[in-house]
Amino acid sequence: MSITYTTAKNGKTDIVIGKGIIADAARYVCTGGAVRAAVVTDSNVAPLHLDKLLGALQGKIELSSHVLSAGEQYKNMSAITELYSFFDDSGITRTDVVIALGGGVVGDITGFAAATFLRGVRLVQVPTTLLAMTDSSIGGKTGVDLPSGKNRAGAFHQPSHVLIDPELLDTLPQKEMACGMAEVIKYACIKDAELARELEGDIDITRVIEKCVSIKAGVVQNDQFDSGERKLLNYGHTLGHAIEKLQSFSGLSHGEAISVGMCMFADVNIALGGCPEEDCVRNIELCKKYNLPTSVNINVRDIVAATGADKKMEGKTLKLVVLEKMGKARVVDCTLKELEELLCK
Ligand SMILES: NC(=O)c1ccc[n+]([C@@H]2O[C@H](COP(=O)([O-])OP(=O)(O)OC[C@H]3O[C@@H](n4cnc5c(N)ncnc54)[C@H](O)[C@@H]3O)[C@@H](O)[C@H]2O)c1
Ligand SMILES: [Zn+2]
Repeated sequence: MSITYTTAKNGKTDIVIGKGIIADAARYVCTGGAVRAAVVTDSNVAPLHLDKLLGALQGKIELSSHVLSAGEQYKNMSAITELYSFFDDSGITRTDVVIALGGGVVGDITGFAAATFLRGVRLVQVPTTLLAMTDSSIGGKTGVDLPSGKNRAGAFHQPSHVLIDPELLDTLPQKEMACGMAEVIKYACIKDAELARELEGDIDITRVIEKCVSIKAGVVQNDQFDSGERKLLNYGHTLGHAIEKLQSFSGLSHGEAISVGMCMFADVNIALGGCPEEDCVRNIELCKKYNLPTSVNINVRDIVAATGADKKMEGKTLKLVVLEKMGKARVVDCTLKELEELLCK
């Protein structure tokens, strides 16, 4: 299956999804007169999948590869300078191509380096985690963390292609799979009641990815016209981010925190979104089914206070994403005091 989205600044992005498509990578990489490809991956993914990608490109384009240390703690400016040296050594020019093979961390770092090296080199994303396949590889947000906070330096740089091979998930640890499922459940809750029903049964992961990718690509494309639709993707994230911050980003993972953020929101969804209680219960049951936590041992008042410092705050009002029903969400205004009252009910 292939899905295309267009953005005013970068033109067309083709997303191709299919089991085994990595073997076909040359078809998408060796275009636009590219002579060299610089492949970036991390130390966990390299031994598992790098040879497959290099094998598919061998003899069709000049190849070089670089392995970054795996982990969010290495998503910083040193990784960017490391990649600039790698690109220089590889002889990459503006008509060549950079390939990110990995999860969201590799994608964000490599994307930012590609956006800024020679003021922009073509980028192909080959995501290897469920989160990267359904979320981070699509939409062109790239960047690194600074000592002052996560994703503080970055740029928009749309990939020319995103190649999604669900077979690469065979090696993904269960915990990482669950983290990706939190975002999948989020998509179902805000946009796709049918996907929610599918998730309640036995899933076909390729189909699930296709559905999430079309939602994300649609949102990215529409939001250029400032429909504000992209905000809906923050469902579960307002409390989730606050929890991650309170645990200094070393407690629950992002996906786990989002899961708790969605599950804690039942009364808020009911009061402010008019959501039927049974749909909130379905949201919680889905999180349980996919081995995600539904609560965390932190005082609700502390979570609300940390939410107040979030960048989504406009003056004294929070923009909250609430469910109207399974598959439909909207943004509502809410004060911190109201939020605290609803969460402490
Ligand atoms: N750009 C965006 O729009 C966007 C959106 C959401 C998240 N993000 C970013 O994405 C990052 C999180 O991404 P992630 O969850 O993919 O984390 P990650 O890249 O750290 O990957 C998780 C772990 O799985 C390993 N791994 C990756 N693929 C594997 C595979 N196929 N088999 C075995 N192990 C594998 C990695 O080495 C790592 O240890 C965060 O930095 C976040 O800020 C960006
Ligand atoms: Zn998220």
